[in-house]
Order: sequence, then C-alpha cells, then structure tokens
Amino acid sequence: MNTQTAVPPPMDGRDPSNLRGDKITGDRYFSDEFAQKEWDHMWTKIWHIAGRTADIPEAGDFLVHNFMKESVIAVRQEDGSVRAFYNSCAHRGMRMVDDSSSVDAFHCPYHGWRYGLDGKLIHAQDADVDFSQGNPCGKIGLNELRCDTWGGFVWYSMDPDGVSLADFLEPMPALYRNYPMDTAVRVAWYRIEINANWKFVTDNFSESYHTRTAHPQVPPWIDQDVDSARHEMWSKGHGRTVQPMRPSLSDRPEGGGNAMFEAELAKWDIDPAKYESYEEFAMQGWKDLKAAKQKLWREKGYVHYEKMDDEEITDSPHTVMFPNVTISFLPDNLVFFRSEPHATDPEKCYFDLWCMAFPVEGQTEVESIMAGRKPLKEVAECEHRVFDGGRGIPELAGQIVYQDMELAENMQAGMHSRGYTDAYLSDQETRIRFFHEVLNDWIEGRRP
Ligand code: FES
Repeated sequence: MNTQTAVPPPMDGRDPSNLRGDKITGDRYFSDEFAQKEWDHMWTKIWHIAGRTADIPEAGDFLVHNFMKESVIAVRQEDGSVRAFYNSCAHRGMRMVDDSSSVDAFHCPYHGWRYGLDGKLIHAQDADVDFSQGNPCGKIGLNELRCDTWGGFVWYSMDPDGVSLADFLEPMPALYRNYPMDTAVRVAWYRIEINANWKFVTDNFSESYHTRTAHPQVPPWIDQDVDSARHEMWSKGHGRTVQPMRPSLSDRPEGGGNAMFEAELAKWDIDPAKYESYEEFAMQGWKDLKAAKQKLWREKGYVHYEKMDDEEITDSPHTVMFPNVTISFLPDNLVFFRSEPHATDPEKCYFDLWCMAFPVEGQTEVESIMAGRKPLKEVAECEHRVFDGGRGIPELAGQIVYQDMELAENMQAGMHSRGYTDAYLSDQETRIRFFHEVLNDWIEGRRP
C-alpha cells in the first residue's frame, strides 16, 4: 500500500463544537432495520481485516473471514501478493472452505470443481463434453474482491468502486509509521460472543471516562487525569486518546498499587524507591524512563524502538479506526480489539482480542496486557468462546477487557428503556458522538 507520510492536523476530540449533535438513540443498538442499513451502506463498502499477513507466509496459505452471512478467502499468491475471493463456488455457489489452511488449489466438495490460487477455474467434471456454453476452465473463476495489506494485516473490501485502503485509513499509516507492526507476535487470540450490539465496543474504546470506575487497576499505571491526555479525531472517523504511561496524580493507591509502573522503571535500571514524593515518582520517573529507554534500547534488545519517538516509547495512543477496529499502540505491545455484528441478531456481536507483543531479545515470556503473562510465541489457534456472564472465559477474569464485557449486557439492556433518549456526554466523550455521526454519513450516502 502506498502511504503518505504527512499527518493532517487532528480535530480536537474533546470539543463538542466539532459535532453536528446527531442523537445516539437506543434503536441503533437493537433494530433489524438499522442493522440492515449498516450492511447495505457501510459493511459492504468499507475495508475489513481478514487476518494477519504472518498467518499466510507461503503461497497457497489462506485465511477465511466470515462476516455476518458473507465469507471471504484471502490467499497468498506465488508472487508473494495476497488476493481475496468470495468463498462461493462459481458453479452453484457452495461455500468451499470452512477454516484458514493451506492448499495447492481450491477444491469444491460438491461437484469437484477446482480453482487455482489466482481464483481461475482449472478443472471441472465433463468440462469439454457437457457445457454447451463451452469449456468453463480458464474462462470463469471465483469472484474477486479488492485486497491490500497494512500494519501486518490483510484487508479486503466488497466494494469494487470504493476508496483505496490508504484513503480509507488515512492518516493511520502515516501516524503509526514508526511502529514495526509486521513484527509483532500474537501471543493471545480470542473471539468472544457477547450479548451486545457491536457499537458498544467502539463506543467504549472511544473514551477513557469509564476507566476509573470500571478499571481501577489502570490509573496507577496509565495517567487518567483528563488534562493529561490528548483527544484527537480525523474526518474519516478515526480517533485516539494519547495518555502518558505514568501514574495519575489524582489516584494514590496504597500497598503495591503502582506495581506495573514500578516494574517498568526497574526494567530500565531505575530504582522506583529513589523518589521522595508521589509527584516526583510519577512525573520525574516518567521522564527518567524516557531517557533510559533512549539510551539503553539497543543494548537491552528493544530493537522495535529504533524509529519510535520520545512519546511512542512511553505513552499509550489508544486508537479507534472507523468503524470497528481498535488498537492500543503500547511501547512493547499492540493490543487489537474488533467487534463484528452477529449474522442475524443485532443484540449480539463477536469481540476479537489479539494480544501482540514486539519481540525483545532474550525474552521468552511477555505481559500481554489484556490476557496476563504469555510465552513469547505465535499462538496457532483462535479460542472461540461465549462470554456467558464471564463463565466462558474464566481465565480472563479481572482483566480490563473482561471488565468491559461485564458492562456490555446491561448497556444493551439500557438501550431498550423508554427512559433513554440520547447520551449526555462529557467533553472527553466527544468521539463517541463523532463515531455515530460518521456512521450516519455512510448510511445516508455522505461518505466521508
Ligand atoms: Fe462447487 Fe458444484 S457447487 S462444484
């Protein structure tokens, strides 16, 4: 993908005067009619992530991405490129493959038609003798979609006439050009069904206002004071909150509450006990951390810091890419979140959690941030779970994402109340309404 390097200035994501003021009504979260509009005018037009490029290193390796009732194959070609096709046989429409795997050619299990990696039909039973239209081999094939790569992800779009991936993502590739995203190793991989509309997840990740209440373990480690953060948004619907990874001064935990920050200081040869006050510990400690990282990254094997700037090595840009992908760009981790609608029920969605870590020389284990300590190696299989009040993922209990999922069902229930007519947002939640306004733009034909 060709990417520009200049990042256009963001709008202030804490300034509601950047909004029209569209209402965020409850029906958006449960109505079949609204879900159909999303499919017709947004999901079938945008770019989707099929999977990671690292999952398909060799020619013939392919990903299957099922999205609502659609299914798409993305396959590595002999020349190293990736092409995407509808997972539907050109003969009678059979869905041909169920799971990501590797092939020399795609075989349809119904009547045996066979397709090359380029999607062209190469074999059909009775091809020469029973097709009055002529032998179909070499003439027809799987229907192709536009496909591209960025950030170590394979993307595709069902819209043949839509914008390019670079245009759709702008300015994300330029903004995150310093992170070697392709090198991140996926150390935890979940897909969890939850009883909430997919937009709950984007709403939730568009603000940090809930963090103190829902995730009390975070403020002693990532500064949640509202004036410490930058809130940014761009016209295509993408936005982020950039917070310093240091203790918030408003929160003073007792008895080891700052363990994450203390461990980070110690990792970079800084004694957390040397500071005389809490302010000094948080503010000077954070500055000392920057300096130590700048000085010692190569020696300590943090090669992914090579191009990262002063902010990127100590801060947390929590980034929502319209409409349903969120990535936390942490100094040593990329945490990927995505919500996708259920095929038929707007009150359910699938929540993807991919915890990725940048490999560091000598490390065999990493803190995955959302799923605990993990071995530093690619996990081969996705864990498919149902949240079920938390019973479906007991090993994630107490983690940040688990706490979010615990809130989802009652937020969904609240959307049905006659007492709810619109959100009454704090300024730092401006990006939530912005997300809904951009969604309305797509649905009403004003593609941003
Ligand atoms: Fe695929 Fe008939 S439907 S070969």
